[in-house]
Amino acid sequence: MLWNIPIQPAPPRSEPIAWESLPFGRVFSQHMAVAEYKEGSWQQVRIEPFHPLPLSPGTSALHYGQALFEGLKAYQRPDGTRFAFRVEDHWKRLNHSAERLVMPPVPYALFAELLHRLLTIETDLFPPTLNHALYIRPVYFAIDPWLGVRPSESYLLLIYLTPVGPYYSGPVNAYVETEMTRAAVGGTGTAKMAGNYAAALLSGKKAQAHGCQVSLWLDAIHREYIEEFSTMNAFFVHRNHTLLTPSLQRGTILAGITRDTLLYLARKRGIAIEERDISIHEITEGIAHGEIIEVFGSGTAATVMPIQQIYYQGKSWELPPTQEIAHALLQDYKALLRGEILAPENWIWKI
Ligand code: COI
Repeated sequence: MLWNIPIQPAPPRSEPIAWESLPFGRVFSQHMAVAEYKEGSWQQVRIEPFHPLPLSPGTSALHYGQALFEGLKAYQRPDGTRFAFRVEDHWKRLNHSAERLVMPPVPYALFAELLHRLLTIETDLFPPTLNHALYIRPVYFAIDPWLGVRPSESYLLLIYLTPVGPYYSGPVNAYVETEMTRAAVGGTGTAKMAGNYAAALLSGKKAQAHGCQVSLWLDAIHREYIEEFSTMNAFFVHRNHTLLTPSLQRGTILAGITRDTLLYLARKRGIAIEERDISIHEITEGIAHGEIIEVFGSGTAATVMPIQQIYYQGKSWELPPTQEIAHALLQDYKALLRGEILAPENWIWKI
C-alpha cells in the first residue's frame, strides 16, 4: 500500500543547532510523523509540527505500560549523501516488541515512508560530521481511554528526531546489580518496552551512589551470568584477543543492533568471538589476573563505550585504559558509516 502522507509545515527553527554543546535528546525536530491505529487499520497518517499530545488521563499506556520505542540514527557523509542506518532491522525489532505486548504490527511501507518523509523535511538537522548523529526516536503506545486490563484497540505511532552528540560525557563505571534483576526467562527482556527502562531506574540510583553511570545486570536465576548494561549490551576482551559477549539464547537480553554491527566488524577483522554465558566471577577474576583486558558497552545511543571500572559486592575492579579492541571497533564503525568498509545490503538506507 502506498501511503498518502499530508504534511502540515512547522515554522522554521528559531535558533541554529549548537553542535559542539549538544545534550542528548533535548533538542527535537520541528516536525513529527504520526500514524493512528483504530478499528483494525492504520489511518490519519501525517506529518505535523512537533507538539504536546492531548491525551485522556485514562490513556491505557499510562496505566498498564503497553508502550515501546526504538532508537536508530541517520548521518550525512562529507559528500552530502544522507542515510539512516539499519532501518529494516530496527523496524523488525519494533515489531518483535509489539508482538510481545500484543500490539498490531507496523507495516514496513508505513514505517519507511513516514521516516523517509520526515528525514527529507528536516535536512537541517543532519550533523556536519560523523561525530554527531541524527537520532531517530519511534515511539508506539496504546491510547484507548479505558481502564480495563486488556490489549488496547487503538494506538499511536510517532516518529521524531533529535540531533545528538555523545550519550555519555566521559568514562563510565559499571555497578553490578546483585539484588534486582532486569528480566527472567519468559519475561520481556528482548522487547524494547518502556517498562524495562522504568524498572531499571532504581538500580541506576544505587549505581550513582557508588560512583557508577550504568548498572550491569545478572541473570535472574543464578545471579551469576552477565546479561547487559542498563543502556547497552556488554562486551569483554580476553588477553588472547577473543571477544566475549553474552549469548542471546536465553531470551532475556535485548538483541542490540549495534551489538550485531560490532560482531560483524569483529568477524571482518578476524577477531575470535564467543557468544556464551559469561559469569561475573570469570570477569572479576579475569580482570584481577590480567586475563580480561577490556570491557565495553554497545548501543545505538552510546555506540561503543569503554568501561573503566566495575563495582561488585563492595569492591572495584579497574580496567587498563588502553581498550584497544573497543577503539578499533569504533574506528571500523565510523569507517563503515563513511562507506570505507562494505556494509551488508540494506544497512545503509539512502535518503
Ligand atoms: C539506544 O541506545 O538507542 C537506546 O534506546 C538506549 C537508551 C538508553 C537511550
